[in-house]
Amino acid sequence: MIDFHSHLVPGVDDGAADVEQARAALAELRGQGVHTAITTPHLSGALTKHPGKLRARLDRVEAQWKELRDIAAGHDPGLRLELGAEVMLDTDTPDLSDPRTRLAGTAFALVEFPRMLVPVNAEQTLSYLLERGWTPIVAHPERYPNLHEELRDAAEWRRMGVRLQVNAGALMGRFGREAQGRAWRLLRLGWADYLASDYHARGRLALAGARDLLHSRGGEEQAALLLETNAARLLTGEPPLEVPPLEVPPPLWKRILRRGE
Ligand SMILES: [Fe+2]
Repeated sequence: MIDFHSHLVPGVDDGAADVEQARAALAELRGQGVHTAITTPHLSGALTKHPGKLRARLDRVEAQWKELRDIAAGHDPGLRLELGAEVMLDTDTPDLSDPRTRLAGTAFALVEFPRMLVPVNAEQTLSYLLERGWTPIVAHPERYPNLHEELRDAAEWRRMGVRLQVNAGALMGRFGREAQGRAWRLLRLGWADYLASDYHARGRLALAGARDLLHSRGGEEQAALLLETNAARLLTGEPPLEVPPLEVPPPLWKRILRRGE
C-alpha cells in the first residue's frame, strides 16, 4: 500500500513527538504492508505569503525529514519515505510555488480547512489553486460536520477538478458515526479518489483494517484503487482513475426475506 497523509516528522507538528515515536510509527506502517509513504507535516497557508518565514519553516522540516528518511533506509530499505505537507487553507491565496508545500514535489497539494469547518469561500480558494496549476486534494472531507448532507459541496469540488482523500480510520468509525456515514457514502457514490491514514504516530494504523473491511464488503477493486493505484499515479503526476461506486449489499433482514421467496 501507499500512504500519502501522515504526521511522522519528529517535533514539527502534533504528530511524532520525537525520533523514537517516529521510528515506531515507521515500523507500524511497514508492518501493515506500506511500501511508500509521503509524510505531510501541517503547514499554514498564511505562512506561504511570507517567503522568509516559509523558507525557514520548510528548511527545518526538510532537515528533520532527511534524518528520518536515513533512519528508515537503515532499518528497513523496503520503505520509501517522501516529504509533503498538509496545507491549512487559512488564506484565500496560498502560494504553493515552493515544491515542498506539495506532495513529493508533484502538482498535487493536500489541503484542509481551518477549525474543522468548510468555509463559505472554500470554492474560491480551491479555484485559486487550480488556476495556478496545482491540484488540491481535500483531506478527510468526511470529517467536516457542515459538509452538505447530500454532499453537494463535495460534488462541486470534484466537478472543478479537486480530488478527495478519505481517512481510512473513518470507515471504521474512528472519527464518530457521522464521519463514518459520510465516508461510506463517498465510497458508495464513487467520489473518494484516495484513502490515506492521517497517522499521527500513535496507536494502530487504520490502513490494513480499512482494506480488510472493504474486502469483506466486496470492494476488492475499490481497495486496490484507493490504497495503491491512485496514489502510485499521484507520485508520477497522473490523475487518479475513476473508482467504481461501492455496491453495498442489502441489509441482512432483506436477504433473509428474499431467501424465502
Ligand atoms: Fe493530517
